[in-house]
Amino acid sequence: MKLEPPVEVTREEMTFHVSEIEPFLQAPPMDLKPWPTAMITLKDGRDMLIRGVKDEEIPPMLEYVRKVMDVQHDFYDIVGARVYAELLGAYRKRLKDPYVLVGLIDGVLGGMANGRMFNEEINISHHTMTFQRGGRIGAVMYYCKAYYAFEVLGCEEFWSTYESYNGWRLGFQQCQPSYPWPENQHELGGARIYYVTRKHWDQMVKDYTRQMVGADLVFDNIPDELIKANETMIVPEDIVV
Ligand SMILES: CC(C)(COP(=O)(O)OP(=O)(O)OC[C@H]1O[C@@H](n2cnc3c(N)ncnc32)[C@H](O)[C@@H]1OP(=O)(O)O)[C@@H](O)C(=O)NCCC(=O)NCCS
Repeated sequence: MKLEPPVEVTREEMTFHVSEIEPFLQAPPMDLKPWPTAMITLKDGRDMLIRGVKDEEIPPMLEYVRKVMDVQHDFYDIVGARVYAELLGAYRKRLKDPYVLVGLIDGVLGGMANGRMFNEEINISHHTMTFQRGGRIGAVMYYCKAYYAFEVLGCEEFWSTYESYNGWRLGFQQCQPSYPWPENQHELGGARIYYVTRKHWDQMVKDYTRQMVGADLVFDNIPDELIKANETMIVPEDIVV
């Protein structure tokens, strides 16, 4: 759009350095407390370490998720496509206050969960994925997001939506209600917002992993060997879902 200036100007052109434009495109970060690394013993006895993703791990994850997009069952394709965009969005700083948690077993990427902060009160869950089926890894990863929201970040609400039957089951298992629809829409495709409030979390959901996996998250005294074994993320070669 152009208009004639209503005053005489001494310079007709102005240039901007891209570093001056970037602050307009990047949201000022909220300075989130990091996810405190945790471990859990899965049903089959394997220990999974859940930690925040490292920036340099995102490109190899993207390469892997690109392959996941080709899986045409159980909605891995649509979730893969969206997760790809979210990981890239976090990496290229085009998401407001995103977080990405990864679940590692002997260093190997077994699952992931991501979301972002809408504001101090509301945490928006984006996606959960397991790359190894049958171990309830996805259930653990999903629970970790809610734990992060309520116990670490002090949020009042956690908003999810579901694009797959297995995903929907995670919310169903937590007995999540939804806001009236279509008046309220989740940012993922305008679907229903299923939510957990702090009260619901305290009364019911906190016990979720014990019920689903038979164990709780452990934050203290995680063995050094487990931390070391999961220091470097190994992205699997093959898709086995
Ligand atoms: C949703 C999701 C994270 C749930 O992960 P999960 O809790 O680890 O559960 P799984 O997907 O491994 O399995 C779900 C159930 O189906 C069974 N199952 C289904 N397909 C299976 C398969 N191909 N191999 C093994 N088990 C399978 C599992 O045994 C399990 O039942 P159980 O919990 O009673 O034992 C996972 O299914 C996933 O990544 N799906 C694709 C992405 C997606 O839909 N994400 C959610 C977006 S809303």
